[in-house]
Amino acid sequence: MTMKRTITVTVNGQKHQSEVEPRTLLAHYLRDVLDLTGTHIGCNTSQCGACVVMLNGEAVKSCTVLAVQADGDEVTTIEGIANGDILHPIQEGFWEKHGLQCGYCTPGMIMASYQLLKNNPNPSEEEIRKGLEGNICRCTGYQNIVRAVQYAAEHMRTGASEPVGAGD
Ligand code: FES
Ligand code: FES
Repeated sequence: MTMKRTITVTVNGQKHQSEVEPRTLLAHYLRDVLDLTGTHIGCNTSQCGACVVMLNGEAVKSCTVLAVQADGDEVTTIEGIANGDILHPIQEGFWEKHGLQCGYCTPGMIMASYQLLKNNPNPSEEEIRKGLEGNICRCTGYQNIVRAVQYAAEHMRTGASEPVGAGD
């Protein structure tokens, strides 16, 4: 029998108390316990970036974090960045610039882009490529992802709203 731990995590502004095994990864906690399946798992070995979420306002690969390590913390997932029915500018950018094909990498790309634009609101193409180098896309060839982030950067600089619960 495995001993479980009780954790309290605020996800997308909502507090959750859950029993988890100490070995449970944050990615699995989000998907399997909270049913937030927008966070994808592509490798489980910190290679692909499909699992990126914001943890206390910083992007992390959630397959590299244990759920118990997030006890008392704030998490924002892809489900938390839109403002109701209004897409976040980064989501809008991926839509407008066709920054996806199969979409598997997209939640992680968007969360990593959020971190990138938080640190650098006006990145060059090279800075965008560098900022997303921890995220793998097998479909797009990356060019439209770069365009999507450029679109988002422009729209965020002109005053679009911050994502819900993303922290500073
Ligand atoms: S599933 Fe986490 S980096 Fe691939
Ligand atoms: S759109 Fe298919 S992996 Fe990126």
